[in-house]
Amino acid sequence: MDFRFDIIAEYTPFLVKGTLLTIGLSIAGILIGTVLGLLIGLGKLVNNKLAAFPFNLYITFFRGTPLFVQILLVHFGVVPLFMGETNAIIAAIIALSLNAAAYIAEIFRAGIQSIDRGQMEAARSLGMNQRQAMRYVILPQAFKRMIPPLGNEFIVLIKESSLAAVITAPEIMYWGRAMAGQYYKVWEPYLTAALIYLILTISLSFLLNRLERRLNTG
Ligand code: ARG
Repeated sequence: MDFRFDIIAEYTPFLVKGTLLTIGLSIAGILIGTVLGLLIGLGKLVNNKLAAFPFNLYITFFRGTPLFVQILLVHFGVVPLFMGETNAIIAAIIALSLNAAAYIAEIFRAGIQSIDRGQMEAARSLGMNQRQAMRYVILPQAFKRMIPPLGNEFIVLIKESSLAAVITAPEIMYWGRAMAGQYYKVWEPYLTAALIYLILTISLSFLLNRLERRLNTG
């Protein structure tokens, strides 16, 4: 078996572009997902079962169905419905964001519920109302606890964005599959893709560890 480094070299410019798109998809997913996730998490936390129902439904659907299915639904269903034509990159961003939002909503809820109820009681006994106690006492502590799981979600998004290859969003795996198809090779494209993902996830987890350590000593 000869390992064809030359075809990896030939595909390098495409893999570089693919890597940039993978990074872009994941950043868009974590940013939009966080904004949406906070809103959905907040909606789920209201003390009214009926009002919380649609938010619960959202979380159940997006966590209970495969991301693969969601990507296909958005690409061939939702995007053409609203835009009149398909667009793989937009569909990938929407599907990843909607999916991440469901997980982030739970991260948000868990963060708030992890704060000892004595904190709320203490704030209220100091004369703060519910809203002030939330804003000045509970949320600052909850946000700090949300950072590690949010970082994990970011890493998950980098890897899961590879599913966008099936709707032809030209990210890393799209080019890996193109290379495999052109040369009937397996190891060269897929080991290269794996290596790129590893570099991305290891670097990100290194950065996140440093951030966490800084926040813990601060
Ligand atoms: N592979 C799983 C799926 O297809 C993962 C979903 C994404 N997970 C996440 N934490 N955003 O459903």
